[in-house]
Amino acid sequence: MNTKVKNICCIGAGYVGGPSMAVIADKCSNIVVNVVDINIERIELWNSEDLENLPIYEPGLSSIIERCRNRNLFFTTNIEESIASADMIFISVNTPTKKKGLGAGKASDLKWVDASARQIARYAQGHTIVVEKSTLPIKTAQTIKEILAVEKEDLINKSMKNKTFDILSNPEFLSEGTAINDLENPDRILIGGENKKAIEELINIYSSWVNKEKILTTNLWSSELSKLIANAFLAQRISSINSISALCEKTGANIQEVSIAIGTDKRIGREFLNAGPGFGGSCFKKDISNLVYICDHYGLYEVSKYWEKVIDINNWQQKRISKIIIDRLFGTIAQKKIGILGFSFKANTNDTRESPAISICKELIEEGANLSIYDPKVSKSQIEKDMGQLSVKEISFLKGEGMWSFSQSIEESAYCSDAIVILSEWEEFRYINWKEISKIMRSPSWLFDTRLVSNINRDLSFGIKVWEIGCG
Ligand code: UDX
Repeated sequence: MNTKVKNICCIGAGYVGGPSMAVIADKCSNIVVNVVDINIERIELWNSEDLENLPIYEPGLSSIIERCRNRNLFFTTNIEESIASADMIFISVNTPTKKKGLGAGKASDLKWVDASARQIARYAQGHTIVVEKSTLPIKTAQTIKEILAVEKEDLINKSMKNKTFDILSNPEFLSEGTAINDLENPDRILIGGENKKAIEELINIYSSWVNKEKILTTNLWSSELSKLIANAFLAQRISSINSISALCEKTGANIQEVSIAIGTDKRIGREFLNAGPGFGGSCFKKDISNLVYICDHYGLYEVSKYWEKVIDINNWQQKRISKIIIDRLFGTIAQKKIGILGFSFKANTNDTRESPAISICKELIEEGANLSIYDPKVSKSQIEKDMGQLSVKEISFLKGEGMWSFSQSIEESAYCSDAIVILSEWEEFRYINWKEISKIMRSPSWLFDTRLVSNINRDLSFGIKVWEIGCG
């Protein structure tokens, strides 16, 4: 490897920072990588002996941590020292949608990026390449540059005026659940920047394991914008196919057949055409909201309305599913038990951020249902956080209010239930023994499969009535 970079610091030990730094450390054993975070508990978990207990669950991650931790990969709260010794600093902090103030509900909250830039300005030494890894609104690099410049002028730092910075944008395209594979075999690496030498340093790191042809370089603004747009396009495909799922149900067409029929056109492609309860996750809604905000800011109202529709359809799909469940159960679900299978926003992750399960479950509870929620990886405490005060006591249920409880298995969730609703596509839901399940459900029993994963045969369903998304 050709790089002069010997020491990397990553600010933010979350979903992006943790796995992406683990892979860099694994592939570049001669570079020391320090991942820092202000959250002591999170750092302790990254350092925990119990590899099952890392702060995030990703297939393949724990073996990399086992190999690299305390070799050339360190998790620490010592931000000052880690910044000071770094030649390259990744900013991987979270940028949630603002909850209040200017742009509330749409703009990204950049307070952590701002704070990181200030810390870098204060503690960095000599020349440092600063890399934006978090998904950021276009022109954030400009803000970082200005903060670095202003802080450098600060009187306190007068004695350290020799520090210099280059800024690069290097967005991460990893998906949860396949993060390690995405990082090890990326479709492309995108590096935006102005200084060729700095870009070359980052290319040298990635080219340890990524073919150079896959490394794209652009100007800073194209790189920042491309990340938002990639997510907007992916989300748009899901809203498109979900809108058509409703039309299939009305017309007798089948959404899976339609997906294959259109996806085999190589201009369209097969990926991201699975109808479902709507997209969730930390990125799609946040990034589109941000795109809408930016378009409004530049007076591009038609463009912002166009992208806003992607979110509207996503919300509509979730409401549509709750309504179908209520309608099929004779217009009332009060006092009925419904088994919910899957609470994460998709399979193979314990992440529930923006999960469609949250809004669907809340709507069903509003209608008085008794939900029994099972997910192979999501904990009871996480569901409690997501459902808020809706985890009402049995006494309220008797008064006609809805409630939910946590189940340890598919069978427990299905026991005495009037309906089962599949909301995430976990592998184990593909192999449910419906004959056995039908014996423990209350009849007339229903299966609502919003992910098209069940292996149930509609004509031989052991008395269970079946509704599948996009199947007319
Ligand atoms: C996404 C992007 O894929 C990734 O590149 C970016 O860096 C972060 O955001 P992630 O949020 O992990 O990754 O999940 P992804 O696999 O993209 O799925 C997002 C949502 O879309 C999930 O709720 C998923 O169930 C849903 N989805 C996906 C569908 O409903 N149908 C599909 O065909 C694909």
